[in-house]
Amino acid sequence: TLPSRVKLVDVGPRDGLQNEKQALSAELKIGLVHRLQDAGLKHIEVTSFVSPKWVPQMGDNAEVMAGLQRRDDVRYAVLTPNLKGYEAAVLSRPDEVVVFGAASEAFSQKNINCSIAESIERFAPVVSAALAAGIAVRGAISCTVGCPYEGDIAPERVTLVARLMKDIGVQHIGVADTIGVGTPRKVQRAMEAALQVYALDEVSGHFHDTYGQALANTLATLEMGVWQYDTSVAGLGGCPYAKGATGNVATEDVVYMLHGMGIETGIDLDRLIDAGVYISQALGRQPNSRAATAVLNK
Ligand code: HMG
Ligand code: MG
Repeated sequence: TLPSRVKLVDVGPRDGLQNEKQALSAELKIGLVHRLQDAGLKHIEVTSFVSPKWVPQMGDNAEVMAGLQRRDDVRYAVLTPNLKGYEAAVLSRPDEVVVFGAASEAFSQKNINCSIAESIERFAPVVSAALAAGIAVRGAISCTVGCPYEGDIAPERVTLVARLMKDIGVQHIGVADTIGVGTPRKVQRAMEAALQVYALDEVSGHFHDTYGQALANTLATLEMGVWQYDTSVAGLGGCPYAKGATGNVATEDVVYMLHGMGIETGIDLDRLIDAGVYISQALGRQPNSRAATAVLNK
């Protein structure tokens, strides 16, 4: 049965901007977060506390966090791959930290420079410190359908990593199709695999749109009752360690679909489109969203 309300987490400032070649100022990123919250987003992935040698685009993490005009009803999340990242992040008072692992061994090595087992050992102290400090903890599982290095990923791998995350106290997991190769039945199987371990209220979908399947995959998992999704304003993004993978499904497109289905999001589509235009102009292009393009050309 379809949910009557869906919660969207905009990951554009992080998943989107981590992949942009041109340097963007912290001020511009802060402006994007402000526009997203003005549009009604209640949960925003702002930045990541990773090595600036690996991902220089997120090197202004503390500056961006410090510049936010926060709202009490908005949750500001940041990525923390290890204790070093967590210790830096906590000074910025995030509401939530995200540890990120993978269902693919090869992707884990390329992305975070360690095996799946080692990644869990690195996450465990992050999770306990965050929970002790009253900070929420999410886990992202990359490559739940396919991997740029290993190809197809069996659903059992997803269950396995979800179990490892659950065992160290991760409260919620995002089932990610990192390179956007999934199609509806495959993504449903990956989601089912995660639901072996986590409850329906504790999972979200994180679908990149490389092959134009992300909206279909969103609908396919909505039909399973999933009601939380990571999406990216203007379709920003990709992962630096997943060559050729494009951004997440555009928040605008998901909002348009959901509203058209009578499903509430609390998001104002016009203001959201403005946020997408703001960041796209800074990047010198049009929003990568069909809904935004349609509205702008009306
Ligand atoms: P490492 O080299 O294995 O770490 O990197 P290390 O502990 O051996 O440390 C090496 C150096 O990095 C040291 O500095 C550390 O201080 C430093 P040096 O002595 O050489 O000057 N360091 C750090 N600096 C800042 N923040 C930290 C940190 N940790 C170590 N947290 C590490 C391991 C994870 C840090 C590295 O591999 C890294 O930063 N990787 C980048 C990962 C990343 O950001 N990927 C993109 C986000 S994930 C994603 O997009 C997928 C997602 O969207 C879901 C999906 O779509 O699939 C979430
Ligand atoms: Mg991603």
